[in-house]
Amino acid sequence: MCGIVGYVGSRQAKTVLLGMMLRLEYRGYDSCGLATVETGVNLVKAATRVQDLADRGMEMPGTYGIGHTRWASVGTVTQENAHPFMACDQAVVIAHNGNIKNFAELKKRLENSGHQFSSQTDSEVIAHLTEEYYQGDLVDALGKAVKELDGPFAVIALHPDNRRLVAAVNGCPIVIGLGEGENWLASDVPALLEYTGRVIHLEDGDIAAVEADSVKIYAKGRLVSRANQTIGWAPEAVARAGYQHLMLKEIHEQPRIIRNIIQRKQSAWLPGDSFGETTCGVLLIGCGSSYHACLAGKILIERLSGIQANAELATELFDVTGSTRRYRAVIGLSQSGETADTCAALDRQRQAGFYTVAVSNVPGSRITRLAEQTILTDAGPEMSVAATKSFTAQLVTLLNMGLALPLKEPKRALDLTGELRALPARLQRILDREDAHASAARWLASFKNIICIGRGIFLPIALECALKLKEITYIHAEGCAAGELKHGTLALLSPVTPVIAFMGTDETRAQMLTAIREVKARGVPVLAIAPEGEEDLEDLADRVILLPRTDPLLQPVLAAAAAQMLAYHAALSLNLPIDNPRNLAKSVTVE
Ligand code: F6R
Repeated sequence: MCGIVGYVGSRQAKTVLLGMMLRLEYRGYDSCGLATVETGVNLVKAATRVQDLADRGMEMPGTYGIGHTRWASVGTVTQENAHPFMACDQAVVIAHNGNIKNFAELKKRLENSGHQFSSQTDSEVIAHLTEEYYQGDLVDALGKAVKELDGPFAVIALHPDNRRLVAAVNGCPIVIGLGEGENWLASDVPALLEYTGRVIHLEDGDIAAVEADSVKIYAKGRLVSRANQTIGWAPEAVARAGYQHLMLKEIHEQPRIIRNIIQRKQSAWLPGDSFGETTCGVLLIGCGSSYHACLAGKILIERLSGIQANAELATELFDVTGSTRRYRAVIGLSQSGETADTCAALDRQRQAGFYTVAVSNVPGSRITRLAEQTILTDAGPEMSVAATKSFTAQLVTLLNMGLALPLKEPKRALDLTGELRALPARLQRILDREDAHASAARWLASFKNIICIGRGIFLPIALECALKLKEITYIHAEGCAAGELKHGTLALLSPVTPVIAFMGTDETRAQMLTAIREVKARGVPVLAIAPEGEEDLEDLADRVILLPRTDPLLQPVLAAAAAQMLAYHAALSLNLPIDNPRNLAKSVTVE
């Protein structure tokens, strides 16, 4: 949420900053702004998209500066509330990502001592506080200012006195990109890829002083060294590559990604059972699509290994589960690795003594730094707000993790190996049938409410389908366990509220058929998504999308891809901003 960037070097900062801001728009795009320094500060901001600001072609000389793209949290979307913020002296300038809980008290105090505020935001207090402490040393001043903040933050500050950017973090990310005679700062790696693959992730409590040819990092007032990391992502990985939208490109990357994941053998990852009889298997936690992957992961792990697994929303896991249960491992799933709720929940579990495993798509991200063990999903950078390739990569990674456990039926691994090998080609067959999905999607787009149903391992897919539809089509969609329809949701169904039914190949098949019949008996339109071999469904459902048939544990991967295509094409037919849906940011760095 909110993208912040900084540059210091010999290039014109304006161009570099705007390019980096464009790459971070998935973190928020309500408004944006940048400041560069030549002799004095040039600052431009507006309640507009980054490209619109860039198109204004404003004169902003200077070879260092900072920029911001906003996801509004405190204060409405206006030019005044856009970042960066300048303090009263027109010299201290800051860009902030986070949430300052005690900003009202700080603002009152600063106003009483004569500071004049120009916005309603929490962020502006950081500029005035830093100014209050500034005596020629920005590292010292920002360090003192952030000590007064209650809440998560990532801040980049500058002052025209020195060609230096100063960054401070606590709970929100900043990555430093390292160059020769130039350096960059950004909330996330994709903003840096055009320039460098060498990065340093700042740790909570760090203050970094970044100049064109030096980077100094301080923790608790002392100079510290932080490991450099090389990011293996190519700059092209964040481009549309000829596709109309990043989401479509990312959907089409799935066969290749899945091929790579299944070629990788997962090593043993679960520690021994140190809790004896009181043990309760593993707990999977995540938010949004990652939570849906946790729900599927629970079933995959239990079916393959017999080890009990639970899945919980990270947003609802306030308690340290240790008080009632002993898990052998708590697994945090997060594409971005920065989701504040997931990181905070996993950290609480770690502090309570549980062994923690991060399953993330972003090497070096926060969750990977706090967990004892990391398993990367390796889907490459995901830029579109709606999760697609990262979700199916999570499913296959969890399956691999299940296969790395002592198996209930060792022969099962052999059955799955062949099916896994064939999975990318089967997935490709679905993606090649764009017309079938587009036609069903246009039909779906004519409704205001949609109910998605599934059973067993298809319930997470139904939930994910509903989430995809909500996010990018703005159609109200609900995921519901098919067996639960009769317990309430059936009352919502009518000829104008259709059902998308995800049919499995396992023991849930017969129950799904019953659910579809019950729905049809009430005149409700049905789109069935089913494996080949279910052609008879064409007599029952209004529309049927047949998918290649595979092992019951892999079928959800194919169904998820079909759901993504439906949501994408429905949003396309509604002419909506697919990659940047309203009100949403990809990386949710505040709780
Ligand atoms: C859905 C989506 C979100 C994320 C959620 C968790 O398309 O993108 O629901 O899945 O915000 O994000 P990560 O996985 O980065 O923790």
